[in-house]
Amino acid sequence: MSAADTPHPDENVVWHKHAVDKQFRSEQKKQKPALLWFTGLSGSGKSTVAGALENKLAELGHHTYLLDGDNVRHGLCRDLGFSDQDRRENIRRVGEVAKLMSDAGLIVLSAFISPFRDERQLVRELLPDGEFFEVYVDTPLEVCESRDPKGLYKKARAGEIKAFTGISSAYEAPEQPEIHLYTDQHSVDALVDQCVEQLRKAGVIG
Ligand code: ADX
Repeated sequence: MSAADTPHPDENVVWHKHAVDKQFRSEQKKQKPALLWFTGLSGSGKSTVAGALENKLAELGHHTYLLDGDNVRHGLCRDLGFSDQDRRENIRRVGEVAKLMSDAGLIVLSAFISPFRDERQLVRELLPDGEFFEVYVDTPLEVCESRDPKGLYKKARAGEIKAFTGISSAYEAPEQPEIHLYTDQHSVDALVDQCVEQLRKAGVIG
């Protein structure tokens, strides 16, 4: 069911169908919209791989947008913290934004820890079948902790950050991700190639 078919709780709020629609905008950009949803622990490499993949897609002439957790928390979600409830709201908002961007005809990449299966499933259900790709950036906790690019694991171990994912807050790994990336075994370039190949197979890019 699309948002257009979902009744609004207030009967006076009625969906307005505009003439320039998703199909028009996608054809104009000569591409199929998609949402590549990168999920994984802090320091797993989500932003790095998503950024490198966006470069590659741009080189191939595609129109993209990368939504990055740390950046989105500076604006749209700056009122949210890291309680389970706030993380759920973070992912709900980003899911809706990603949906709007895919409606604009873009290939959207998102890089959020998004620790809960249910929330990722809700985002999946916002999009038509075949447009949502869960990308599991699978990096063992020990590796993320040894990288510790922002020094956050050290602070979390010292008890200076509460509810830190993987240490004192849960991470529910995807069970059947469309794309499974092992960052401790492959280079960034190889991981980008793996994503590109999957997108070709799925017919998102030519
Ligand atoms: S999510 O859980 O709500 O999806 P999100 O991806 O937006 O998280 O933000 C994660 C980033 O916030 C991490 O990469 C890290 O830099 C920072 N951060 C700060 N506090 C925490 C925390 N308690 N747990 C996880 N990440 C945190």
